[in-house]
Amino acid sequence: MKLWQGLLCSVSILAGCRNAPPRPTCSTGTQAQSPTPASSGLATPELTDDVPLADDNAGLSFVADGKTLRTLTKAVIRRAFPVETFTVSDAYYDGRPKTWRAVSLRPLLERGFEGRTVDLDAQQFILRCVDGYTVPLDGKRLLEAGGYLALADATVSEWDPIGVKKDNPGPYFVVWKHPEQQGLELHPRPYQLAAIELAAFETTFPHVAPTGEPTDSAAQRGFGIFKEQCIRCHAVNQEGGRVGPELNVPQSIVEYRTDAQLKAFIKNPRTFRYSLMPAHPDLRDTDLAELLAYFHAMKSRKHDPNAVKPARTRNAEKSL
Ligand code: HEC
Repeated sequence: MKLWQGLLCSVSILAGCRNAPPRPTCSTGTQAQSPTPASSGLATPELTDDVPLADDNAGLSFVADGKTLRTLTKAVIRRAFPVETFTVSDAYYDGRPKTWRAVSLRPLLERGFEGRTVDLDAQQFILRCVDGYTVPLDGKRLLEAGGYLALADATVSEWDPIGVKKDNPGPYFVVWKHPEQQGLELHPRPYQLAAIELAAFETTFPHVAPTGEPTDSAAQRGFGIFKEQCIRCHAVNQEGGRVGPELNVPQSIVEYRTDAQLKAFIKNPRTFRYSLMPAHPDLRDTDLAELLAYFHAMKSRKHDPNAVKPARTRNAEKSL
């Protein structure tokens, strides 16, 4: 039934993904509403479990060691796992309440990585989106109770676009159910999710660690914060996100900004400029000092495979 509609909509979703711009601003400090109980009757009739969704054919891949173990389509996921309906105040929609039809991540990951590992909580994961946005997350975070994958917006028949760029969040959007999980710093919300990868952080980002620094040093603790809160938007040594600027090559950020400015910027960028970087009000002075210790440690660990050769100044001048 309505196959032609499904086809048309899949095409429009693909078009949306291809042109996906950088992520929108992530606001913080959102107050979430208490989640409503599952199956609260909010789903519109079009979104009951038996009626096809426009993007039912969209696949979510489960990858380990660079190989796809399996890809589940949305139609399969909807049949195989209980779909819950809950409402949260959503940071990506300016804190407006959104009601999601979503499946819990734990059983989904157990199925996706079946035969591969039993102790998912002890693993490290990489969430990859259609537009290349990449979020590393520890198993203990990803598998927290309250971690869900939204399959549909329960109140509109298609996905509600996000931000001024009108990003389509589908086909899969990570959402968190509990009020205390609504801060984007610790509970990131990748949308247009395409794959969940089982991969050690060091394999995906081999040149980001402050190798050689003692385990309990400030630099290592700062690296921990960087991994958790910054790398999805920033690269160090050309590894990591592209939403914000690279922070170590060719010059480390600590080579052209003072430590005091950096700490103040990281805590609240908008005191400097109308920035797209979210504020980090929860970072304490010690956290900021540790982040700075990390940047200083990386300054002497530069790795820049794409380094540009020094500009040939004279030729450049001639052509002026
Ligand atoms: C949601 C994406 C995002 C996250 C998360 C994020 N940043 Fe940024 N960051 C940006 C963007 C975008 C810019 C460029 C903004 C601008 O120029 O005002 C930026 C700029 C910066 C700058 C450059 C400031 C300058 O003067 O040029 C530093 C340093 C920085 N971020 C550090 C961090 C640290 C440390 C974290 C983690 C605690 C972090 N960022 C988390 C997006 C992000």
